[in-house]
Amino acid sequence: MYEKNNFKVQNKHILHSSIFNPTLRGWQSIKCEITPKNLMYPLFIVEDDNAVQPINSMPGISRYGINKLKQHLEGIIKNGLQSVLLFGVIENLPKDDVATHADSPDNPVMRALPKIKSWFPNLTIACDVCLCPYSSHGHCGILKPDGTLDNTASLKRISDVALAYAKAGADIIAPSDMMDGRIGAIKTKLVNSGLQEKVAILSYTAKFASSFYGPFRDAAKSKPAHGDRKCYQLPPTSTGLAIRAAERDITEGSDMLMVKPTMIYMDILKELKEKHPEYPMFAYQVSGEYAMIYHAASKGNAELKIVLMEVLESIRRAGADVIISYFTPVVLEWLQPKNKL
Ligand code: PBG
Repeated sequence: MYEKNNFKVQNKHILHSSIFNPTLRGWQSIKCEITPKNLMYPLFIVEDDNAVQPINSMPGISRYGINKLKQHLEGIIKNGLQSVLLFGVIENLPKDDVATHADSPDNPVMRALPKIKSWFPNLTIACDVCLCPYSSHGHCGILKPDGTLDNTASLKRISDVALAYAKAGADIIAPSDMMDGRIGAIKTKLVNSGLQEKVAILSYTAKFASSFYGPFRDAAKSKPAHGDRKCYQLPPTSTGLAIRAAERDITEGSDMLMVKPTMIYMDILKELKEKHPEYPMFAYQVSGEYAMIYHAASKGNAELKIVLMEVLESIRRAGADVIISYFTPVVLEWLQPKNKL
């Protein structure tokens, strides 16, 4: 027991002795470390092979044509990038009711997959699977004539698209459509095609109907033409459905799980990781979170490096093994020995 200005502090209650230098502080946060394997980088790929299109709603991020992708990725891979998540964006190809160009030979992701594989054989490639960037109505599945979702038709179409990406070279299929039963439908097609040991499934398990996807819908040109996504994405208030979704997706054969967005869903992240520690847990720092942090830093309200590392390490603390982040190239640059804090 020691006394300081008459306030008593019990010996075992002295915390400062654990954190008086950076090494000691580091020992308190080993499980929260950010290394290249903890980061996945989302990329938007467009039809025009020579395009680099800055995205207004996501300053600092661009859509790339295949010919510009190689150069963009080279430096980031040198800095340790291990995995990417691909999104296709179409402008000139027609959008229709059944999202024909989600997996047509003209689809930018279909065309990019073999090239990225040949350029960077050690890069792990995940493909987002969804109909919204390619459907005329902008919804994530197939609709019935009355405008409601046709889950059965959606499963058939989405699993076809997933299989096409798998055959074109995707290592990971990441369905973000949120149809019921999609993991099982995709797994069955992978098994029937003999790809079950070569292609993993990363389920967007607990994907909430969040207002933080706005900038992405501008980036991917995937805004619903009418209505919203509340009948298939989870209500932001529902822990119960997130738990049921994780149990279901695991039963159907998902290899990895995801919670999305991150910062206001940390309780869900913690709960799902605690319930299923044997599954790698992904957390998607979504476009709205990217924009929020970017703008706070660019207005001088926060220092980007300090605030972003706090956010990323906290997402790890809550239970994420891998964070999908648009900031990945910046963070990998910071992690280079010459730039370490
Ligand atoms: C497609 C999809 C979305 C995101 C990932 N896949 C948008 C949506 O569901 O409307 C959001 C990603 C982000 O905001 O960064 N369904």
